[in-house]
Amino acid sequence: MNLKPLTINGKVVKFPIIQGGMGIRISLNKLTSACMNSGIVATISAAQPGFLRKNFRKDPIGENKKALKEEIEKARANSKNGILGVNLMHAGTNFPDYASFLAQQDIDFIVSGAGLPLDLPEYLVGSNVKGAFIISSGRAARILLRSWDRRYQYMPAFIVCEGPLAGGHLGFSKEQMATGDYESLAKIVKDTREVVKAYEEKYNIKIPIIAGGGVHDGHDMADMIKVGADGVQIATRFIATYECDVNESYKQMIIDSKEEDIVTVKSPAGLPGRAINNFLTKTLEKHNLKLNYCVNCLRTCKKRDIPYCITEQLGNSTSGDKSGLIFTGAKAYLVEKMDYVENIVNEIIRECRRDLKLSGGLV
Ligand SMILES: Cc1cc2nc3c(=O)[nH]c(=O)nc-3n(C[C@H](O)[C@H](O)[C@H](O)COP(=O)(O)O)c2cc1C
Repeated sequence: MNLKPLTINGKVVKFPIIQGGMGIRISLNKLTSACMNSGIVATISAAQPGFLRKNFRKDPIGENKKALKEEIEKARANSKNGILGVNLMHAGTNFPDYASFLAQQDIDFIVSGAGLPLDLPEYLVGSNVKGAFIISSGRAARILLRSWDRRYQYMPAFIVCEGPLAGGHLGFSKEQMATGDYESLAKIVKDTREVVKAYEEKYNIKIPIIAGGGVHDGHDMADMIKVGADGVQIATRFIATYECDVNESYKQMIIDSKEEDIVTVKSPAGLPGRAINNFLTKTLEKHNLKLNYCVNCLRTCKKRDIPYCITEQLGNSTSGDKSGLIFTGAKAYLVEKMDYVENIVNEIIRECRRDLKLSGGLV
């Protein structure tokens, strides 16, 4: 058992950790450059990065693209050789437009979840940017690999297996979340490992499998390496960092949260999400929230009779409004203080190496 460096798109990072993309405006240039400079892979979220720009409500796509370009340029200026990607949700409107735009930017990968990104390789033809996907079952991995193989003869740069403890939208139904009738992250990793084998042989490549959702410390990371993951994706743990781009009040809510404060919440995307219990989640027990505007963000949103507008409520909360939607992973309650990204990464790697009984120190 070993901890191997992670290779993506011909570049290598020392520690096999990917910082997961977090919208709206949580993982932008500051968090991502700190992550790259700490030896891990970084992901900007393409979920409404233009939210605070003046023209956002009039021209969300144009403002989001300008914001993405700026964030990528700033992140690159601070860490020239790091591995940088963008998370683009497949459930978002204008997926082809954003994917084609991102394929021309100075990034290493586009990673796509929240739906099955069957068409992603189409927008990457002739680009140096590689495609990757996020799934919550071995079955979904099989469907995507078969489709990418048949339609494009294209394989993902890596696969993120996202389990039931993740933050943001969850790849499980409301009923599964309520009854606990879902597969564990370890099972999803093992199933995906089986599915990937044939394609690794066919293309004579290695497809790294990354486990995400509830990986808080090095012990969680070691557990995932033991079941066959090549690395882990971590998001929530990086929110309460000095470098994270989100408003300070959001960071404090993560630090202050207790286990009983973390709840599942319905989302206009039709998927359950995980959030901190507050005004929004309590109000939803009685009635839906008023919608003030619509920027047509999600293909899967009905736009009428929905619980709330996700762009408005998540954008407000990440900009400092404590009563909006506070997306989080299940283990936020274990975050106890603000810290620097580098300290967190080094601590996780030390704990993981100790659990895997590896001698000598990478850190
Ligand atoms: C606040 C927050 C926002 C997130 N936003 C997105 C997003 O915009 N797109 C996406 O695909 N995943 C999103 N995620 C999921 C993360 O990228 C990651 O895969 C997952 O949260 C990992 O679990 P962890 O938070 O327990 O480490 C978000 C997670 C959190 C906590």
